[in-house]
Amino acid sequence: MEWLNLYKEKLLSPREAAFKIKNGSRVVIGHAAGEPKKVVEAMVNEKDKYSGIEIVHMIGMGLGDYVKKENNNNFRHNSFFAGPTTREAIANGNADFTPCFFSEIPRMFRDDYLTVDVAIIQVSSPDKHGFCSFGISNDYTKPAAECAKLVIAEVNPNMPRTLGDSFIHINDIDYIVEVNYELIEINKSNITDTEKAIGKNCASIIENGSTLQFGIGSIPDAVLMCLENKKDLGIHSEMISDGVLNLIEKGVITNKRKTIHKNKIVVSFIMGTKKIYDFVNNNPMIETYPVDYVNDPNIISKNKNMVAINSCIQVDLMGQIASESIGIKQFSGVGGQVDFIRGANMSDGGKSIIAIPSTAKNGEVSRIVPFLEKGTAVTTSRNDIQYIVTEYGIAELKGKSLKERARALINIAHPKFRAELIEEWEKRFKKEFDYFIYYKIHK
Ligand code: COA
Repeated sequence: MEWLNLYKEKLLSPREAAFKIKNGSRVVIGHAAGEPKKVVEAMVNEKDKYSGIEIVHMIGMGLGDYVKKENNNNFRHNSFFAGPTTREAIANGNADFTPCFFSEIPRMFRDDYLTVDVAIIQVSSPDKHGFCSFGISNDYTKPAAECAKLVIAEVNPNMPRTLGDSFIHINDIDYIVEVNYELIEINKSNITDTEKAIGKNCASIIENGSTLQFGIGSIPDAVLMCLENKKDLGIHSEMISDGVLNLIEKGVITNKRKTIHKNKIVVSFIMGTKKIYDFVNNNPMIETYPVDYVNDPNIISKNKNMVAINSCIQVDLMGQIASESIGIKQFSGVGGQVDFIRGANMSDGGKSIIAIPSTAKNGEVSRIVPFLEKGTAVTTSRNDIQYIVTEYGIAELKGKSLKERARALINIAHPKFRAELIEEWEKRFKKEFDYFIYYKIHK
C-alpha cells in the first residue's frame, strides 16, 4: 500500500499546515457543515503571521473569526452567501460579497475568475485504495480541491463516506491533518400552523412520481411533512436535511420513477443532525456530485416532473422575487434557487414553486408588496416564476399578464394587507381594464 506511506509523510499538525499558506493567497474553505475547523482556527490564531489572505467561502457554519474587524489587516473574506457570521461584516464593508449562481462556482475556480491558491477541506478517512470521500460537502469543495495549487485536508473519521463522484486520492492531497471532532449539526426547526398550511398547499400540486428539490428550514420541512400520502417520490436537490428521513422510512421517497439516476437520491451537500450523517454513510441510495453537475439546469431538467420548492423575502406585484437582500443589505445569496427554478421549468411536467408565509416580522409587514424595497436585488426574474404559494393559497403566474398576476398575488396576500395592494392595482391597471371592456363592447 504505497499510498499509506505517502499518507504518513504528509501528516502535519493544524498549525504546521496553516503555516504552509503564503501571504497574498486566495484560500477556499470547504463548505457548510463540512467546514474544516482546525486548520482555519490555527490560521486565525496566528493571524499576525498573515497579510493579504482572501478567504472564499459560501455558507459559513464555523466561528467565522476571520471576518472580525480586528482581523481585517490579515484576512479579507469574500462570500458567495451571507449568513449569521458574515452578514454584518459584509454590510459594514469588512467583507465582500460576490454574486454567483451556485452551479457556476466551480467554473469561477476552474476558469480563473477566482484562482484557487489553497483549498482547505475536510474528508473521510481513506478506504483501502487510498480514496477519501468529500462526505457531506461535495458541492464546490471538490472542484476547489481539484483546481487548488495547494490542498490541505483534515481527515476526520466522523465524516461519512458518501458515494457518487465524491472522492479524492491521498496522492492529490498535499498535507494531511488528522482530526476527530463531531461534524457541525443543525437541528430540526419547529413548524408553525402557518407553515403547515403552506406545506399543505404545496403538497396539493405535487404529483406522485415527482422528483423534488428543496432548501433547508421550516417551510421545506413542513412541505415534506405533508407528503406522507404520496407515492414514489424522488430527490434531486442541491442539499438535503433530516426532513427526508421520515419519508424514506415510510417508503414514500423511493426514487423508482426518476428518469435520471433512477433509485438514487442525488445531492450536492447534506446539512442536518448526526442522524442524517449516519444515514448517508456508505449508503448506495445516496450519491453526491459537485454542484456544477447537480445544479446544472440542463441536468435538472432531465428529471421528468421535477418540482423545485424555494422561498423568498419579498415578491412584488409583477412576480419579481427577492430572496437574498433586504434593501441593499445582503441577507443570504442566490444559492441554487435560479438553477433549480430554471431546471424545473424546462422539465417535462416540471413545476417551480416559491413558498412563503404571507407576512414577515411577526405579521408586521407583507411579503407581497407593490414594489421591492429600494436597493433590493432581484434573485429570480418575473419571467422565471411559475407558482407562488402562501398559507392563503396558490398563485400561478406563468402565462398571466401583469394585471392578472398582480390580482392572483393579492388573492394570496394576508387579508390585512390586501386593501393597500388593491389600491396599487387600481392605480396601475384600472384605466387599462376599463379600456379593455370598452374595446370588447364596441368593436
Ligand atoms: N421585510 C423585512 N424583513 C423581512 C422580510 C420582509 N419582507 N421578509 C423576511 N424578513 C426578515 C425576517 O423577519 C427575518 O429576520 P430575523 O432573522 O431578524 O427574524 C429574516 O428576514 C429572514 O426571514 P425568513 O424568511 O424567516 O428566513 P428563512 O430562514 O426562512 O430564509 C430566505 C428565507 C429567502 C432568506 C432563504 O430561503 C434564502 O436565503 N433563499 C435564497 C437561497 C435559496 O433559495 N437557495 C436554494 C435552496 S438551498
